[in-house]
Amino acid sequence: MDHFMYRDGALHAEDVPVSEIAASVGAPFYLYSTATLVRHFQLFDQALDGLPHLVCYAMKAASNQAILKTLAAAGAGMDVVSGGEYARAVAAGVPGERIVFSGVGKTHEEIRASLIGGIRQFNVESEPEMAVISEVATSLGLEAPITIRVNPDVDAKTHAKIATGKSENKFGIPISRAREVYAHAADLPGIKVVGIDVHIGSQLTELEPFRLAYLKVAELTEALRADGHEITRLDLGGGLGIPYTRSNEAPPLPTDYGNLIKETVGHLGCEVEIEPGRLIAGNAGILVSRVIYVKQGEDRQFLILDAAMNDLIRPAMYDAHHDIVPVIEPEPGLDQVPYDIVGPVCESGDTFAKGRMMPVLKAGDLVAFRSAGAYGAVMSSEYNTRPLIPEVMVHNDKFAVIRPRPTFDEIINRDTIPEWL
Ligand code: LLP
Repeated sequence: MDHFMYRDGALHAEDVPVSEIAASVGAPFYLYSTATLVRHFQLFDQALDGLPHLVCYAMKAASNQAILKTLAAAGAGMDVVSGGEYARAVAAGVPGERIVFSGVGKTHEEIRASLIGGIRQFNVESEPEMAVISEVATSLGLEAPITIRVNPDVDAKTHAKIATGKSENKFGIPISRAREVYAHAADLPGIKVVGIDVHIGSQLTELEPFRLAYLKVAELTEALRADGHEITRLDLGGGLGIPYTRSNEAPPLPTDYGNLIKETVGHLGCEVEIEPGRLIAGNAGILVSRVIYVKQGEDRQFLILDAAMNDLIRPAMYDAHHDIVPVIEPEPGLDQVPYDIVGPVCESGDTFAKGRMMPVLKAGDLVAFRSAGAYGAVMSSEYNTRPLIPEVMVHNDKFAVIRPRPTFDEIINRDTIPEWL
């Protein structure tokens, strides 16, 4: 469920007509619903009721500070994957003890800054990284809490570019070597092992891969405890998928996922962390765009929008489907026609949808891409010197720009010209 719906013939975000925001901000822009963000966080939080837990929002999905503040106020911790994300979470007021640091290549500098600023734990991805954490923590006279990310060699049954739990993927240490690596960790100074971490991929639409991975983690917990390690925390990653179409998709719900967690690892007495990103932010955001032209091609009609692949890369990058709906509600029973929906960028990859059935649209009409809240704005670029589009947030009947559109001068003046030119 989200809070973008037609009311009186017009798409609303909570209590605000989307066209009113477009008139004020100008298209294209991203638009987030506070109520949806909070609701999705609460679904996870409630799903883990009865277990000691922390839901650490994977802020890579959508990292505007207004989003982080909204979720942190609801009780979320954060999962960060870079020094920039760590700094952003701290700037949004999230205390270090509620921030977990994931990511395959944490640098010396990132480790140092987050140890000084405070960190709940590092999810260690490799032995060389563990050695650096040990070295940096020792040099600071600190002890770094760590989990080690294990790669359980489980097929997440998702898009190859976002599957992370198979042995051929770059993530984590092979679960078969876990006992050896934990033994090594126990000998390193400046490190305190607190648990195990696993994350097998994103946009999972079945629970079975999670079950397989979590059962392996449960087994490993017992084995490590038998080896004398204190395992008090399990970070079970993110990855629960969302419906991208209104019609036939029904991925498992957070309650089913919570029950699965309780079934597989609930008996171990560990504190559980999860790192959902997409399910919290995905359907809490839309991308609003205006039709610039309707162009008749040889055998098809193109709907040329003012948003492009640089604003929403998912269709070009993953062949991802996003529902696209007119902002003015079409009359029921109105004829639909097929459009190739494209942006103005100079490559054919800048295509959002082919042969998409839509009511007849004309230049100037507004459309909304649904499910664009996660991996939308954060993956945008200024390709073709197109300014990053604004982000806007609604809360009941209010809206606020949470990232303004930069001017051309702001973009251009970031370049510095060498003295020989
Ligand atoms: N934890 C870790 C360690 C991750 O790598 C990820 C996502 C998450 C949590 C959050 O997963 P989620 O709950 O959002 O599925 N750009 C791609 C998705 C990349 C996901 C990367 N890692 C897309 O647009 O589909």
